[in-house]
Amino acid sequence: MSTSTTGTLETALLDLDELQGEAVLAFESAASPEAVEAARVEYLGQKQGRLKAAQERLRTLPNQAKKSYGQRFNGVKQALEAACDAARARLARRTVGGDGIDVTLPGIAPRLGHRHPLSQTADELIDIFGRLGFAVARGPEVEDVHHNFDALNIPPVHPARDPLDNFFLPDGGMLRSQTSTIQVRVMESQPPPARVVAIGRVYRPDTVDATHSFMFHQIEGLFVAEGVTMGHLKSVLRLFAKSYLGEDVRIRFRPSFFPFTEPSVEIDMLWHGGRGWVEMGGAGMVDPNVFKAVGYDAERVTGFAFGLGIERLCMRRHGIDDIRLLYQNDVRFLDQF
Ligand code: PHE
Repeated sequence: MSTSTTGTLETALLDLDELQGEAVLAFESAASPEAVEAARVEYLGQKQGRLKAAQERLRTLPNQAKKSYGQRFNGVKQALEAACDAARARLARRTVGGDGIDVTLPGIAPRLGHRHPLSQTADELIDIFGRLGFAVARGPEVEDVHHNFDALNIPPVHPARDPLDNFFLPDGGMLRSQTSTIQVRVMESQPPPARVVAIGRVYRPDTVDATHSFMFHQIEGLFVAEGVTMGHLKSVLRLFAKSYLGEDVRIRFRPSFFPFTEPSVEIDMLWHGGRGWVEMGGAGMVDPNVFKAVGYDAERVTGFAFGLGIERLCMRRHGIDDIRLLYQNDVRFLDQF
């Protein structure tokens, strides 16, 4: 009798040990709140739980064994409840909001982009000329010969119309070769005065090298009103140059020729840190023939126009020595600006 009682108790206590070992392992290895809940139901569940079964076993034991078994059972129960609480706490730390996302892990930083250096330059130019009272104008890149040449006083035999120097289209149109087309479009669309800048792409079939591209950007300025002189042109360009390249910039006009301005000049700039005089673009007083083409009264108004290369301005400002870098979208290059 006593032997069998001892044997039955020993087996029962071993079973309790095994239950505790299995249950604690299940809670400790649970990797999600769902796994903890599954372990809780299996071991601590009120209806079918294995701890409940172990409790019911008490009744089947002989009376002498009940005390030892009951004490050990209480210990196992506490251990399981503690293991369950610990597992919940461990996963709660990791799953704030319960959505399975570990908000405490270091994140994957998104790569922040920024505007392209050419766009930055364009924005800055619009800003500077805006402060000088110039509004922004736009025009189409696919143009007609009238706006690109005829209305700009470029005669049918002029070398600028050479098919080798332009992208002509099968329908008789063309990709604009200069933003001066926008001068014409602005004046056609409104009576004087006009005070605008226009920024956009222009196309010329140049062989690509460090300083040439078949596509580049220009900024065109136009100011037409009564009494506008070359003096205004120079002041506006000097103010612009100082804002963009620094206080110590110097500016000089060299006599030149454009069919749509008379007189015409090349604009050179010299600034601290630069390597001598650099040609930045062309300018001049709007030719009376252009006024005639757009219906402005050349006896009443005068005006100046200028055109500057955006790439050139951007490259001089940042010390970029190859225009191709601006078009390759290499993030290692673009990151620097
Ligand atoms: N359109 C000229 C060019 O592309 C530049 C220019 C603009 C000259 C306005 C005079 C006036 O070379």
